[in-house]
Amino acid sequence: MREFIAGLPKCELHLHIEGTLEPELKFELAGRNGLKLPYSSVAEIRAAYTFDSLSSFLKIYYEGMRVLRTEPDFYDLAMAYLRRAAAQNVRYAEIFFDPQAHTSRGVPFDVVIRGLRRALMDAQAQLGVRAQLIMCFLRDFQAEYAMATLLESLPYREWIAGVGLDSDERGNPPVKFATVYARARQEGYLLTMHCDVDQDDAIEHIRQAVEDIGVDRIDHGVNILEDQRLVDLVLARGMGLTCCPISNGYVTDSMKAEGIRKLLDLGVRVTINSDDPAYFDGYVLENLEALQHALQLTEAELAQLERNAFEITWLPRHLKDAYL
Ligand code: HPA
Ligand code: ZN
Repeated sequence: MREFIAGLPKCELHLHIEGTLEPELKFELAGRNGLKLPYSSVAEIRAAYTFDSLSSFLKIYYEGMRVLRTEPDFYDLAMAYLRRAAAQNVRYAEIFFDPQAHTSRGVPFDVVIRGLRRALMDAQAQLGVRAQLIMCFLRDFQAEYAMATLLESLPYREWIAGVGLDSDERGNPPVKFATVYARARQEGYLLTMHCDVDQDDAIEHIRQAVEDIGVDRIDHGVNILEDQRLVDLVLARGMGLTCCPISNGYVTDSMKAEGIRKLLDLGVRVTINSDDPAYFDGYVLENLEALQHALQLTEAELAQLERNAFEITWLPRHLKDAYL
């Protein structure tokens, strides 16, 4: 089974590039930028990864990314991820980035996107991994800042497949960004957003995302099982869910493996992804292995999970078909 999972052609659709920043690269970038980290070793950094909720994780996630300053920093970050992805037989990835986590501390938008874009182009040429970018708004900032970020992205419209919404969900429902999402749709962006697992008002947030905003897919979204009507709606629309088992185990009490199994059995296009692998200690391969171990998935079921992912990619039809 290990060999089967390793050899499976993979597609990653829920991956925060800032969440791939490994401690070794943190030290390298800190050195390059003349910054002093409050840790003296990689082991010390890892020992400080003590989170048990979304908000406690986010604190460490934002603190960690302060070493990212220049275009080559973002290039190196993305290239390191894409090398690992290629080694795990990931053939295609849609990669989230959080521009406001950088512009809010003085790093210009174009520095971020140019570095990431250059890595994606080089990875395609050198490693054979194709990837696209999804720009996420930070939901704990004001909607006006998200709108300004959307407008700032427009010169780079061709480099960005769609928009997402992440960060702290508490008190920040999907409808807070209804105007921003309507404009993003007008500009031709595809739409997704996080409905994180077991958050307050989880099912109402999923309802808003699907019915009020009209997203094309949902990131996480396992709580949809609480409302059969919404499950039926997602099935009718053929929408996908990007689930992240190991991440779930860190920010809630479990991987939510049984829920993922139920969604798979219902025919929902559920997919398996790694979220923030440098922090949760598992890339997509390890997520598939952990889920297989929990559920005793068959080879056919594992293949179905990857087929689901390739089917819901935001690639033009002719490129999508090449993976199916
Ligand atoms: N949820 C919300 N925001 C995030 C996450 C996540 O899993 N990872 C990075 N930002
Ligand atoms: Zn996420």
